[in-house]
Amino acid sequence: MHLQFSKFFKAFAVILVASFGHSQNNATIVKINPAETNQTISKHIYGHFAEHLGRSVYGGLYVGDDSAIPNTDGVRNDIIEALKELNIPNLRWPGGCFADIYHWKDGIGPKEDRKNIENVSWGNVREDNGFGTHEFLNLCETLGAEPYLAVNMNSGSVQEAVEWERYVNNPNGSSDLTDLRKENGRETPWDVKYWGIGNESWDCGGDMTAEYYSNLYKRYATAISSYDNTEKLYRIAVGPGEPDYEWTETVMKNIPANRIEGLSVHHYSVFDWVDKGHSIEFTDEEYFKTMQRAWFMDEFINKNAEVMDKYDPEKKVGLIVDEWGGWYNVLPGTNKSFLHQQNTMRDAMIAGLTLNIFNNHADRVHMANLAQTVNVLQAIILTDDEKMLLTPTYHVMNMYKVHQDAELLSTEIENNPSFGDAPAISLSASTDKSGKTHVSLVNIDGDKSYEITVNVDKMKPISASILESKKVQDHNTFDNPDKIKPKEFKDFKYKKGKITLEIPAFSVVVFELN
Ligand code: AHR
Repeated sequence: MHLQFSKFFKAFAVILVASFGHSQNNATIVKINPAETNQTISKHIYGHFAEHLGRSVYGGLYVGDDSAIPNTDGVRNDIIEALKELNIPNLRWPGGCFADIYHWKDGIGPKEDRKNIENVSWGNVREDNGFGTHEFLNLCETLGAEPYLAVNMNSGSVQEAVEWERYVNNPNGSSDLTDLRKENGRETPWDVKYWGIGNESWDCGGDMTAEYYSNLYKRYATAISSYDNTEKLYRIAVGPGEPDYEWTETVMKNIPANRIEGLSVHHYSVFDWVDKGHSIEFTDEEYFKTMQRAWFMDEFINKNAEVMDKYDPEKKVGLIVDEWGGWYNVLPGTNKSFLHQQNTMRDAMIAGLTLNIFNNHADRVHMANLAQTVNVLQAIILTDDEKMLLTPTYHVMNMYKVHQDAELLSTEIENNPSFGDAPAISLSASTDKSGKTHVSLVNIDGDKSYEITVNVDKMKPISASILESKKVQDHNTFDNPDKIKPKEFKDFKYKKGKITLEIPAFSVVVFELN
């Protein structure tokens, strides 16, 4: 049976909840503890990922400088504006699996001279390398985002990685790579800090064992570091993409503390890798299973962090969740290698829940990258020729940006109803530099609203916003791009340090307090 969460159905569910299970006596109670946690939620948790995959880069964010679509150096202006609005803190590129077949020198110099390549990772399509190192790093500069480069560890070489680092970072003209960069139009270095060494090296990145990978990693990590840059680089090693904590153990044990700053892990909310289900026409059971997989992120972080704590008790090495999100079957009629899917309220639930999990693990999770930015997997932006739309996931990211670089507050929930193994209600809270506190609440339950009391002590609500829709399958289309967008939320009461609200099924609510 397909879920049809109509307003009628929801109203019925609310009555049931109020009369049978969720009356005044057992309302969910949220406590915000204003005491300092001394933990900052890194803005980098709100990072993104753009791979050379399907219509992510070519035919997505990059249309070329001769396109009729308004652009800046080939990148769509509407996308630049949308990403700036999010305060996008970092962007990972060029992959993913693609990173391990990419040779950066193919993508520099005059565009007409650049080598065409076959993207053997994703659909064997031909790419003209019009979007290369300069285009990517200049885009990051325009966005005010930190670039995060993934080096080719599989079909590339240590030398190629060293030269890339020198090309983009060398300030003093001591090498011919600096001369080359200047010839190609860039005088000053970009100072790229974040370097991923390999990607999924246990699979598409070379099918390596953890021992082999960590030894090879050390060659890259030492070679790209030199007397003048070691302090400046943040080197990220490959961690697991499934509950293989042995991999984490081996990598953390074998790589000395002075050679690693981050460990990357990947987790997608997929309930069945053989048949991932439709991105719009999913059943209530599929919705439920997706939420269970999204909630697994909490356990995945805890178990990896437990291993990391053994080798890095001071939590200096960041857990970098550089691929996360929902992954479904491609939309019918689209190329199966292009991973193009729609984005519904289900995806908004994955985003709200996952970002709460990351915020609450701010001590260990230092960066995360949603997969992916445009037209691929849980995209925040979809395009169709000149048209462009923002997805429900985009709106969650926008509502949550208030947590970027804010101080995490500790929170407690009493009487939290469950949704399978997952708690129905999740939240995180933080205080920003101006002293305002933000509380993000999510109810992932597919059909029940819940009464919540939020104890805010001496703080008072200033405003609140909500993302909700009638059906969990609802999504934005090019004909109706604003069907789902945040609205002001007024449906709450405040009295003597307590906010009470009825949080609708599958909705996200963010409060601002001072
Ligand atoms: O994001 C799509 C792919 O998923 C990436 O290329 C790879 O790292 C992962 O398996």
